[in-house]
Amino acid sequence: MLIGLFSIFLTSSAQAESLHVLNWWSSASEHAAVDVIAARLLQEDIDWNEVLIPSGSGVAAMIVLKSRVIAGEAPEVAQLNGTIIGDWANLGLLQNLDTVADIGKWDKLLFPAIYSWTRPHGHAVVAPLGIHRVNTLLYNTKIFDRLKLAPPQNWDDLVRIATLLQNAGIPALAQSTEPWQISTLFESLVLAESGAPFYMDIFVNKDPKAYADVRFAQALQRLRTLKKWMQKPIKEQNWTQVTHQFANGEAAMMVMGDWAKGELNSWGLVTDTDFGCTAVPDTGNYHLFDIDTLAMFVSNSPNNRHILAQQKLASIVVSPGVQNDYNQIKGSISVLRNPDLSRMDSCARASWSIFSRGASVQVPSFTHRMATDETSRDTIINELHKFFMDDDITVEETQRRFVLIANILRKSK
Ligand code: BGC
Repeated sequence: MLIGLFSIFLTSSAQAESLHVLNWWSSASEHAAVDVIAARLLQEDIDWNEVLIPSGSGVAAMIVLKSRVIAGEAPEVAQLNGTIIGDWANLGLLQNLDTVADIGKWDKLLFPAIYSWTRPHGHAVVAPLGIHRVNTLLYNTKIFDRLKLAPPQNWDDLVRIATLLQNAGIPALAQSTEPWQISTLFESLVLAESGAPFYMDIFVNKDPKAYADVRFAQALQRLRTLKKWMQKPIKEQNWTQVTHQFANGEAAMMVMGDWAKGELNSWGLVTDTDFGCTAVPDTGNYHLFDIDTLAMFVSNSPNNRHILAQQKLASIVVSPGVQNDYNQIKGSISVLRNPDLSRMDSCARASWSIFSRGASVQVPSFTHRMATDETSRDTIINELHKFFMDDDITVEETQRRFVLIANILRKSK
């Protein structure tokens, strides 16, 4: 009997468990951050089996995930960000992680906003990795020092600096025409225009009146103004290519979530020495957040075979050591209320201190799926893209279309 048990133990421990993890982290820093988790997981004899669908902000990854689930081939784990978590949970497709959350005291250790984010319907269904700040402006310190410029605090500063840069023959902003990258810039402009309540009316409530508002017209106009100061031609490139241009000094500034900071660091560029990091002008009092989370899918395999490994992964993700190491590389901040602040650079510390102020300053990123459903998101991004690409489309025309769209989106709810 004893020998029997012993051999069962040997067989099961020899068969290392393996989890397929669908994600879109394909850049150098994203890989390095994932390696932190994978290495820790391996110590538990669990393989991180990478299912990589490269696509900035996860556009393609979400399509592949849907088709795999429909085909009955859900991965055991997926990077699943935003409001869609609740939808998948409603369908009963996500593992319940309440035990992990209880044992790990997530209610005490996580930021309250993160804690609620992990449990859309009162049960934990995702493990939170890190918090990105989307309203981040990176600037090239060498160019700024040479031209004796200080980072812009408001729109007027930005106009003055962009004009000076233009006279010096330097494009002010590195930018791609990829729809999600245009939208990432635009959401900060909406926030800058009139603060969180108006931003929420546009991106969360989709209030037709807000789209007809003069403030929305102004944000669109500003997007068009900024276009003048971007490198020409503005190409459709992925975010790492744009970050390269910024790193090479081909443009003086870049608006992008702070994953771009992680990427610059991974290429050997040092925060505050080679580049600076500040909030997008007029958004300094807000944290436009994007939370990275991992969801564990209920598997088709007999006896819910992967559950223990999935639970292990969830608890590893939230452990302090992994949180500090992972987020330092990724460019995000820890989801824990008390992280190791000594491990954070000035950019992360600013992000952390503003996020710690609580709900009144935390604004959900529209582009990165925190604000609304996928259909609304895709429709709005598509319309913005058209406006950005074609200077003949007027602001008024675009506003009219947005009002129509908002009415339809509201009715279809
Ligand atoms: C994700 C980040 C990722 C970025 C670029 C965002 O939506 O939250 O983790 O680094 O997209 O792909």
